[in-house]
Amino acid sequence: MGKNIVLIGFMGCGKTTYAKKISKALNMDFVDTDRFIEENEGLSINEIFEIKGEKYFREEEQKAVDTLSKAENMVIATGGGIVKNEKNMMKLKETGVVIYIDAIAEHILSNLIDDNTRPLLQGENKLEKIKNLMAERRPFYEKYADIKIDVSFAGIRQNTERILKAMEEYYEDLHNTRT
Ligand code: S3P
Repeated sequence: MGKNIVLIGFMGCGKTTYAKKISKALNMDFVDTDRFIEENEGLSINEIFEIKGEKYFREEEQKAVDTLSKAENMVIATGGGIVKNEKNMMKLKETGVVIYIDAIAEHILSNLIDDNTRPLLQGENKLEKIKNLMAERRPFYEKYADIKIDVSFAGIRQNTERILKAMEEYYEDLHNTRT
């Protein structure tokens, strides 16, 4: 069975960008859990949070994981909060290798400075909000990651190459420990 590749990490770290690049390089399909939910609901993430609430969104997120973790040969970009639910991560890890796209708070801020599509980061003091939520989330990203890459200090092309190389090494190590 062709394993999936699952990208986790904080909002605005570039999961979707890197997932698309990886899927192209490896000739795999690409899916983004947030877009999947938006399409199913016919609403944007902002609208889902506003009209139906975060709890509802998390339920839909879990349903998206149930469906998408059954796929094969898929690069899956996830929402930054997917790791809050252990069941999500158990399912994703069962059928996929998990890559943590790490970034410093300042890098996240520079990516999201003009963004208003992240309901959890609306309002004043974006950097502080990012830092606080990141401190809460980081242990979960660390816990579930098979591979971790910090993308703060290189460009997209170089980071994509670094991710692909890290994956190669990961599979080589896995192969060596089994033989
Ligand atoms: C969230 C991250 C978002 C989206 C929602 C909640 C989070 O996805 O799922 O706004 O809790 O971190 P991105 O990580 O793609 O921004």
